[in-house]
Amino acid sequence: MEYTRAELHIKKLVGACISKTVVQDVVDFLYHAFERYSWVGIYHVEGTMLVLGPWKGEHATEHTTIPIGKGICGAAAQSGKTEVVTDVSKDSRYLSCFVSTRSEIVVPIKKNNRVIGEIDIDSDRPAAFSTQDALFLEKVADMLSQHI
Ligand code: SME
Repeated sequence: MEYTRAELHIKKLVGACISKTVVQDVVDFLYHAFERYSWVGIYHVEGTMLVLGPWKGEHATEHTTIPIGKGICGAAAQSGKTEVVTDVSKDSRYLSCFVSTRSEIVVPIKKNNRVIGEIDIDSDRPAAFSTQDALFLEKVADMLSQHI
């Protein structure tokens, strides 16, 4: 799907705000709208840990809690910066969830400049995430920040 169309759709989902499942709705939408997004999940910051919230994918991950500072997820939570890993097999920080994963993007969700959660997306394709994905998902993270 084209990014602007996806952004508008998510704006509507989040703006409606009648649904208690808005975060899950956005996760489901991202998973279905972009074929290369093989697994989509939201982690919440709870103290020094990341705790898995809504997710969509073929399989559950064993990493339902991740210490901040560990893995790609923990690195993004610590730095507050988007992490794009083009080849997970070459990144020593990587915590493996699915054997099929080849690349990953993690986008922090911030409120008042503090990281309160993140969007984590795995892809079965190598180098699946472009600068456009990063910019798009940073907008999605902004839209979700009031709902985390
Ligand atoms: N690969 C992540 C762990 C989470 S799973 O991808 C769902 C990491 O390295 O932090």
